[in-house]
Amino acid sequence: MSVTVRVPAKVNVQLAVGAARPDGFHDLANVFLAVGLYDEVTVTPADELRVTCEGPGSDQVPLDRTNLAARAAELLAARHGIAPDVHLHIAKDIPVAGGMAGGSADGAAALVACDALWGTDATRDELLDICAELGSDVPFSLVGGAALGTGRGEKLTPLEVGGTFHWVFAVADGGLSTPAVYREFDRLTPDAPDPEASPALLEALRTGDAEALAATVSNDLQPAALSLFPALHDTLAAGTAAGALTALVSGSGPTTAFLTADATSARKVADALTASGTCRTARAATAPARGAKIVRRVAPE
Ligand code: C5P
Repeated sequence: MSVTVRVPAKVNVQLAVGAARPDGFHDLANVFLAVGLYDEVTVTPADELRVTCEGPGSDQVPLDRTNLAARAAELLAARHGIAPDVHLHIAKDIPVAGGMAGGSADGAAALVACDALWGTDATRDELLDICAELGSDVPFSLVGGAALGTGRGEKLTPLEVGGTFHWVFAVADGGLSTPAVYREFDRLTPDAPDPEASPALLEALRTGDAEALAATVSNDLQPAALSLFPALHDTLAAGTAAGALTALVSGSGPTTAFLTADATSARKVADALTASGTCRTARAATAPARGAKIVRRVAPE
């Protein structure tokens, strides 16, 4: 038997970051929106735990126990007293090390897939608990849609979304390390105020109003990402010149995100970004997208 789970990427439409906490993490007001770019994780019984990966950027994905998909299998197995002997195959479409939670997505997908394969029947709360242990963004990958993440981003409150948003994502040449971006944030922002979600932004999501959302998006990590990766200024400018309603760095970057008025504008912005030479590739995607979901079960022959 094998089980395949599809899991979306995310963009942070608001990422308000406070001061570093004693544990090194930062308190956040993190408004997550799941977008329709997906990884698929397939889990199959095997002699021992192993990870393989295919797709763009897969050569940068670690295949050892640091991979969040492997750690998810280990954590679930340990809780249920079983051996995590599975082959996890990741089909990548979410940009790697791009600030779109690709690694977190694979962790959430592997968890759901292993739970189904092993029949461990974990409750939603148990799955969310394991996700929070895996990383700050992993619980959101499980639930999808839109949510406000507080604490280090792992405490989720679901948010209503009143329409479809049309996005374009420009994949940069190169990656950025999330801890390095947070360190640069600390250097640039010695007196960060307590993070708070913007009521106007939540209202724009609720009403599905792209122009209002464009006017209220914000990312406190953007100055830090631009400081470490100055070429992103050119990508942001190219998308804006092509008619995007707004342009921002996605999470800790270096993927950049462009909100557009409709599907036609999204195609135009994606084409212009690809032609601009300021990014490796540009992809259009809509939001919100559903969270981690089983899409295939194949019985043994
Ligand atoms: O939780 P996760 O493993 O995804 O976090 C990766 C890194 O990002 C952390 O080690 C930390 O440096 C930084 N981080 C942070 N504050 C958060 C979330 C992540 O400083 N709320």
